[in-house]
Amino acid sequence: MSQYKNDFLLAESNYLLNHSVGRPLKTIEKAFKDSFLSPWQSSGKEPWENWLEVINNFQLALSALFNAPAVEFCPQVNLSSSLTKILMSLASLNKQNVVILMSEIDFPSMGFVLQNALPKSAEIRFINKNLDITDANVWQQHLSKDIDLVFVSNAYSNTGQLAPVREVISRAKEQGIISVLDIAQSAGVIPLNLQDVRPNFMIGSSVKWLCGGPGAAYLWINPDSIEQCQPKDVGWFSHENPFEFDIHHFNYNQSAMKFWGGTPSITPFALASHSIHYFATLGANNVRTHNQAMIDLIVDEFDTEIMSPLHKETRSGTVILDFKDKQTVIMHALGHANISVDARHLGMRVSAHIYNNTDDIQQFIDVVKQHYLSVY
Ligand SMILES: Cc1ncc(COP(=O)(O)O)c(C=O)c1O
Repeated sequence: MSQYKNDFLLAESNYLLNHSVGRPLKTIEKAFKDSFLSPWQSSGKEPWENWLEVINNFQLALSALFNAPAVEFCPQVNLSSSLTKILMSLASLNKQNVVILMSEIDFPSMGFVLQNALPKSAEIRFINKNLDITDANVWQQHLSKDIDLVFVSNAYSNTGQLAPVREVISRAKEQGIISVLDIAQSAGVIPLNLQDVRPNFMIGSSVKWLCGGPGAAYLWINPDSIEQCQPKDVGWFSHENPFEFDIHHFNYNQSAMKFWGGTPSITPFALASHSIHYFATLGANNVRTHNQAMIDLIVDEFDTEIMSPLHKETRSGTVILDFKDKQTVIMHALGHANISVDARHLGMRVSAHIYNNTDDIQQFIDVVKQHYLSVY
């Protein structure tokens, strides 16, 4: 049994949907009460001092997880909104005929933002979905001199692939191309050291492998890029001194917090920071090692059914399986056995976390085999 199983509220299910929503820690309710509710419930004073401490704590948790100073992170609502804010803040992108490079298999919401937040003349150039996005040469061939910004996801949720982010980002830098890294699908399960991989911007969330719930997204800004950012979606918390209250005077905060905005929400960050601290202490390397060992168990049992990469260097935390005409029957049987997975166009997505153990994976394999026998 995984020693971590006991730390999480698993509702007696065999939960393998960690690419979608991670399970909450058992301690999350108390942590939320202590950091958010209690200062509000039990003190006659307004609780902002304690609430702002929650945000500070969120930044510290991210700092520990990704190895970068806390002030380089700004809380955000979700990745779409973060990306919109980045695009609108850069003069170099708000001119005619800018060219953006992204993949056709990026999360659609990211494409929607790139198509709408930039001037109409912007061209979005897609890397074709049939090309191997894990291959640095594919990226190299597409990173031509006329590109202004490259959008790269660390992990792709529907294919279980990893992008060669280090190569893409350093190549982009050599060519003066702005890079934005999306870690929605990798944060917590794919180790990332921001002293090592340095995009201009990184956007992520807490809801998946970080088990921190929705609404606690974040934006990391490379200190080399911070000065050129002039966010348009601002508020008093983007000001260098929020409590100055002079309507005639606004100066951007010098840190990533220039992207913050008006009165901040606190609730999602109180939940998420508790969970991110847990994973920062545990270490993404440990989560990755365990997750890959669980994937190995599945890969060892199946063959042509595996649609995601087989090599560890290019596979994410999700294994994708296609059981062709048996898929619907198998999905139904898994649901019946209280095993939670989902399916997208390439096949069934299975994502084992630190709280899944070999028994969980064996149960998954057994149920699948039982209903796959006629073609297996
Ligand atoms: C790679 C990737 N990017 C972004 C998102 C989500 O973006 P947003 O926070 O704007 O909903 C997801 C959600 O599944 C994702 O997998």
